[in-house]
Amino acid sequence: MITTKLSVKDAQSFIPLSAIQNETSNVEKAYCDLITKTGKGNGFLGWLNLPEEITPSLLAELQRTAEALAARSEVIVVVGIGGSYLGARAVIEALQHPFKSLLPYQKTPLVLFSGSSMGEDYHKALMDVLDIKDYTVIVISKSGTTTEPAIAFRILKEHCEKKYGKTAVQKRIVAITDKNRGALIKLSTEENYQTFVIPDDVGGRYSVLTPVGLLPIACAGFNIERLLAGAKKMRNNLLQNPNFSENIAMQYALSRYLLYKGGKKIELVVAYEPQLFFFIEWFKQLFGESDGKEGKGIFPAGAIFSTDLHSLGQYIQEGERHLFETVFSVEKVAARLPIPFDNNDLDGLNYLQQKTIHKINLTAEEGTRLAHLSGEVPNMRITIPEISEESLGELIYFFEFSCALSGYLLDVNPFDQPGVEGYKLNMFRLLGKK
Ligand code: PA5
Repeated sequence: MITTKLSVKDAQSFIPLSAIQNETSNVEKAYCDLITKTGKGNGFLGWLNLPEEITPSLLAELQRTAEALAARSEVIVVVGIGGSYLGARAVIEALQHPFKSLLPYQKTPLVLFSGSSMGEDYHKALMDVLDIKDYTVIVISKSGTTTEPAIAFRILKEHCEKKYGKTAVQKRIVAITDKNRGALIKLSTEENYQTFVIPDDVGGRYSVLTPVGLLPIACAGFNIERLLAGAKKMRNNLLQNPNFSENIAMQYALSRYLLYKGGKKIELVVAYEPQLFFFIEWFKQLFGESDGKEGKGIFPAGAIFSTDLHSLGQYIQEGERHLFETVFSVEKVAARLPIPFDNNDLDGLNYLQQKTIHKINLTAEEGTRLAHLSGEVPNMRITIPEISEESLGELIYFFEFSCALSGYLLDVNPFDQPGVEGYKLNMFRLLGKK
């Protein structure tokens, strides 16, 4: 049984009932096209079966590699951009201690990320850290030719070879890439690096449940079997429920599509737990690159509340009425930090003394829901029991499936990204690339 719950009731009051009735058959058709692999981009549906298809021997190999890298590292640098790093970062940052780097004793290395920007100061700052820390590198690129991670990797490779020597580096660098296309596989074969393959039929942003996500997540000390178990549960649930009324991915995809058709062009994805920041970044990339094409698509935005209630809150409440919210709600948190009683009560907070901070957070969530509804912001809620490997696995599969359905409802190919080439071509021309 899945533990993820979807509530669309606060969105459906903004959608005419007739629209839901008229479009139900369309989302059921999108579902059918997806699972029979007859829709657009059907060469990239490998992710549909991934949670079932990761073999025990691949899992064992990933675990062994993670342990070997961890044993050599205080820091592991994951090099990648877009789908080649966001899934791993989303899961790691959701699960790890937010101040891990400041804790004196580390059971597992700190995972840092590089290759997703070209800030020279950032790269230099990373080198300052790597000068004094033992480190290993996981370089990830499906095409093996993306400029940003390629630059980052060239710098890291040189630094690593100087620090440890050319032969020792073979045990410090692991590449995850296509099985035979692109510069990275050529270079890795030449340099004798260990490699893992990204399957041909899995695109970057759908690849978190391949070695792309699994190896960095295992390196950070999290349980990838449980992550896959969560994804499997969601997969079974969605595949066993071909009717709209029982399928939460169809309900979510159709609700956001009908809101979009009704003029709500922006989906603001909100979490009340700050460690979900990168999960929202992953969501933004998944839906942004999948939906946004041919002059169509919902613009995915993200916010952390209460933080952004004090920056975007005014706009959400009273600005242009073109957005809807999708809220991640977390039922239980791990910690219990009591609010202390104060004899003088100068700050007037004693009335909260019997409540947990989490309870107050959930009350802020409820207060915000009511306020935004009265401000005509449709609201969908995705509730998970707690932040864990299983619940994140469920969410990952749920969103991948919903994203594919959303693309089919818009009649676009949710698995390509032709628009990303535009900036690259200009950059290469301006740089004088041959
Ligand atoms: O989803 C996608 O396909 C993209 O976001 C890619 O992951 C991103 O562009 C990185 O590509 P590559 O892994 O080929 O370096």
